Amino acid sequence: MCGIIGYIGPRNGTEVVIDGLKKLEYRGYDSWGIAIKGNPSLSVHKQVGKISDFDDLASLPPSSVAVGHTRWATNGSVTKANAHPHTCCRGKVAVVHNGIIENFQELKQELRSHHFVSETDTEIIAHLIEDNLSAGMHFKDAVTNALTRLEGRFAVVAVSADSKNVVAARKGSPLVIGIGKDEYFIASDIPAFLEHTRDVIFLDDGDVATISDGISFTDFEGGVVHREPVEITWNVEQASLNGHEHYMIKEILEQRSTVGLAVDQDDAKVLKVAKMINEAYGTFFIGCGTAGKVGLVGSYIFSTVAKKHVNAVVGSEFPSYHDFLTPKTLLVCISQSGETADTLEAIEVAKKKGCKVVSIVNVMGSTMLRMSDEYILCNSGPEKAVCSTKVTTAQIALLTLLAYACVGRLEEGKRLLNSVSLKLDVMLDGQYLDEIRFLAKKLAGHESMYIIGRGLNYPMALEGAIKMQEVPYIHAEGFAGGELKHGPIALIEDGTPCIALVANDGVKNEILINALEIKSRGGFIIGISPKDNDIFDFWIPVPDVAIASPIVNIIPIQLLSYFTALEKNCDPDKPRNLAKSVTVK
Ligand code: G6P
Repeated sequence: MCGIIGYIGPRNGTEVVIDGLKKLEYRGYDSWGIAIKGNPSLSVHKQVGKISDFDDLASLPPSSVAVGHTRWATNGSVTKANAHPHTCCRGKVAVVHNGIIENFQELKQELRSHHFVSETDTEIIAHLIEDNLSAGMHFKDAVTNALTRLEGRFAVVAVSADSKNVVAARKGSPLVIGIGKDEYFIASDIPAFLEHTRDVIFLDDGDVATISDGISFTDFEGGVVHREPVEITWNVEQASLNGHEHYMIKEILEQRSTVGLAVDQDDAKVLKVAKMINEAYGTFFIGCGTAGKVGLVGSYIFSTVAKKHVNAVVGSEFPSYHDFLTPKTLLVCISQSGETADTLEAIEVAKKKGCKVVSIVNVMGSTMLRMSDEYILCNSGPEKAVCSTKVTTAQIALLTLLAYACVGRLEEGKRLLNSVSLKLDVMLDGQYLDEIRFLAKKLAGHESMYIIGRGLNYPMALEGAIKMQEVPYIHAEGFAGGELKHGPIALIEDGTPCIALVANDGVKNEILINALEIKSRGGFIIGISPKDNDIFDFWIPVPDVAIASPIVNIIPIQLLSYFTALEKNCDPDKPRNLAKSVTVK
């Protein structure tokens, strides 16, 4: 949610920042802006709309220092005035920010002698810094002191017309520094500068980085901190479209290999986490959105394979369980970004009770990963489309692997998942895509649709509904097949599309009966199943992969979501109102 990129070095920073903003657009795309350091002035340029629509670089002055921001509105509507960067009264200090400042109204009251031009919480930071500079502080101290006044989560980068330093700090929202040759990049996320360097320093909470022709780190009290760069493994091809029209289809198709990559783990690590689960007294799978549905499917997988009860709870609801937490409780947090605020809060609540935390995340260096006692990486490469696809199936694969590891059958789990990976490679061919595109043409004219599943595939019905909501904006709902007769069946009319997820498992006959009940009331049944059936009006075949059916069953719905979005002229990578990384509660 909101993307930050800054540059200090010998190149044209304006160009680097505009380019970096385009790469970060998945974090927010309602408006954008850039502060460009001149000598001795700052110029700020802002626009409502997507940075990807901007192609007039020549209209912006070149500079070796620039800081930019792409916004997903939280405090204040989508206007040019509310776009970042925000400046102080004299326009000498500019600030970009990702996060929420909870005490901003109180601080704004205190700063009432200042002239505010936006409705945002961010603007108070520029004015606080201004006051500190007027009191005689150096820029770095003025920024650091201002930050100590803020309550909430933030990643902030501040630049001044009068100082050669750029100051970056974080508390709860991500910030990573790319180290090039005599140049520095500051960003919310690695893809912003991946083409320039793979040497990075992840800021920790409470870190302040001061950057000019060198870099130094302190804490918020000014104490010196040492941070060493690490080399990250992602490459530019992974973070670019690589010939595809959209990231969403690129990432869906990457599932030909990402399930296999997810399973390619250090056995010792998997066994260690399995041991933690086995020794815990109360395990919770926590995630938000799609990751929450992965947690739910994980609870079914653990029940079936490991004969273990696991609670699946969405991040925002978890704090309400705090009364049941003990030092023997284990949280397994599932997240693509590792930055989702509600899941991070769940960890904070759990840590206060002495619980242990494991995270299953895709982003190296993310906050969640660093708050956890142990972690497993999804190995999926960067996921840039707002809706999660390849990381979803990687996470399901990892929970499956862990379930097998918990009962001493790790090798069997690996064999199963590697065979799934091979089958996906065969499944996702051109003809398969054409068939789903054909179905998408039929679906595009419908306002509502339903998805049913049972057992392992009930959570996938819920996840499928998310996919059809977030990208083609269809009112889709997922139900447990058994719940149909308790209400939802009243919604079925002649021609209502309904997807039935029919795996070759113990609930196959029941879900087929549910599909028939819908068909008998005029519903149009799309069966996702290894075998065709007379009940299906349209059949989407998937391989028969036993317990791994949620992995293969969700992929056709991802494709359907993508192609239906194209039919409806919706942008699959940047759906309205959504952001990839939800860093506010
Ligand atoms: C947003 C994204 C979803 C994602 C959810 C959780 O809503 O649009 O695709 O599932 O956040 O994100 P996380 O990074 O924790 O997996």
